[in-house]
Amino acid sequence: MSTSGAAPAPILTDAELKLLQALIYQECGMHFDERRTHFLQDRLLRRLKECRSDSFYAYYRLLISNEGKQELAKLLENLTVNETSFFRHKAQLDLFQKTVLEELLKHKSARREYSIRIWSAGCSTGQEAYTLAMLVTDALAYYYLRNPLPMDLPLPKPLIPPPWRVEILASDISYSVLRHGQEGTYSEHQMSMVDYGFRLRYFDKISDRYGVKKALKEMVHFDFHNLKTEYLPQRNDVIFCRNVMIYFDAPSRAIAVQRLTQHLSPDGYLVVGHSESLLGTRHGLQPIQQGIYQRL
Ligand SMILES: C[S@@+](CC[C@H](N)C(=O)[O-])C[C@H]1O[C@@H](n2cnc3c(N)ncnc32)[C@H](O)[C@@H]1O
Repeated sequence: MSTSGAAPAPILTDAELKLLQALIYQECGMHFDERRTHFLQDRLLRRLKECRSDSFYAYYRLLISNEGKQELAKLLENLTVNETSFFRHKAQLDLFQKTVLEELLKHKSARREYSIRIWSAGCSTGQEAYTLAMLVTDALAYYYLRNPLPMDLPLPKPLIPPPWRVEILASDISYSVLRHGQEGTYSEHQMSMVDYGFRLRYFDKISDRYGVKKALKEMVHFDFHNLKTEYLPQRNDVIFCRNVMIYFDAPSRAIAVQRLTQHLSPDGYLVVGHSESLLGTRHGLQPIQQGIYQRL
């Protein structure tokens, strides 16, 4: 006879699993196939225990209720994979800086349209958005080295030379990663891909961590956006959505690509992970190279 008194863990039936899978899919597009069912079960059980639900069906009822909205957000946070790094897929970013940014600056200058909007969709803890902020800042500085402004800039020189405005939106469905990004401090380990020159120009050392300098931080705005269900930000010159749609199934991916394309400026660019293929999705995009596409 057991004397521990601990109640046995509830069993997850096939019917309950299907209900929960369908709810998660409907809420965020994430698809858990057989290879990822074990992970899903483990996370569901943890949340169920935390909420003291006595069955998976009771937990499901909580998730779909009005009172369960916060719990649904917590569950989704627990299911996301947040792996990221500064300068991730370096070769792709080099290509982006040398071709896409260069073209964008040239065309915008010719049209006297001095604003750039970039969106890191599925930004995790912010390293992608801050990497983009550093790349755009350097690309602008290099552009003005070759095409000097007719007047002297005020000292100390602003990071972004007027009249340019650079806005970088970083969004995710996990509130905890958004908080981390907004705080903008990173460990030595997280900084491993940031070289000496970038560290010097864009970070302050705060005890054993590196904090993004104020001027760079001010370029990046963090916000919650769910690619599956939300109203999404319009007229982006570039959207980075790397390593996010790999967790979607084909129909969700196709819908997301179509929505992202509609939220690009004319001629805008969509950048996905370098090995992610958009083949099979209906889209008005022209492939450039290495996961970089341009709106037709
Ligand atoms: C693996 S990280 C990729 C981070 C960064 N883009 C990169 O490539 O380094 C995937 C991120 O996508 C977010 N995500 C997953 N589903 C999402 C959705 N439906 N809407 C917005 N973000 C989502 C996750 O929370 C996670 O932080």
